[in-house]
Amino acid sequence: MKVRINVIVNGEKHDLEVKPNHTLVDVLREELSLTGTKKGCGSGKCGSCTVLMDGRPVNSCLILAPQADGREVVTIEGLAGREPHPLQKAFAEKGAIQCGYCAPGMILTAKALLDVNPNPQEEEIRSAIAGNLCRCTGYSKTVEAIRSCANSSRNNRPSAGRKAYA
Ligand code: FES
Ligand code: FES
Repeated sequence: MKVRINVIVNGEKHDLEVKPNHTLVDVLREELSLTGTKKGCGSGKCGSCTVLMDGRPVNSCLILAPQADGREVVTIEGLAGREPHPLQKAFAEKGAIQCGYCAPGMILTAKALLDVNPNPQEEEIRSAIAGNLCRCTGYSKTVEAIRSCANSSRNNRPSAGRKAYA
């Protein structure tokens, strides 16, 4: 059995038939070929699958596809305009991307933080990204990259700095 959902992804409307037990990360990667969203643990523990849903960061592995019906989702592919988003540039410039597996989720979590707190302190950044695991960088470069975007990020919508679904 499949269910029909309507979801806006990166500004584009999609009318999809999905398995009710499919997760949002699977729909994004398998149905829409948006493979920038990474699937790590599949159980809400690593944050690599983070996307923005109605402006808030969520672990898309914990969202069943029907829960995305009527929602607006932004993935890493939707963040850049003609040029990379300032956070993407900062992550690259500050060395906050090594293997890169955590980066899409980390950057979207940072985007949501800067939306509500354009000038976060280190503690606030570390708290916001606490659910995004990185095995490579030790987090210092990540914090530095996010700090460097304080007051300069192209953020244009309110959202929460912590995940709605841990
Ligand atoms: S894949 Fe690890 S939290 Fe979703
Ligand atoms: S850069 Fe490799 S996991 Fe973060």
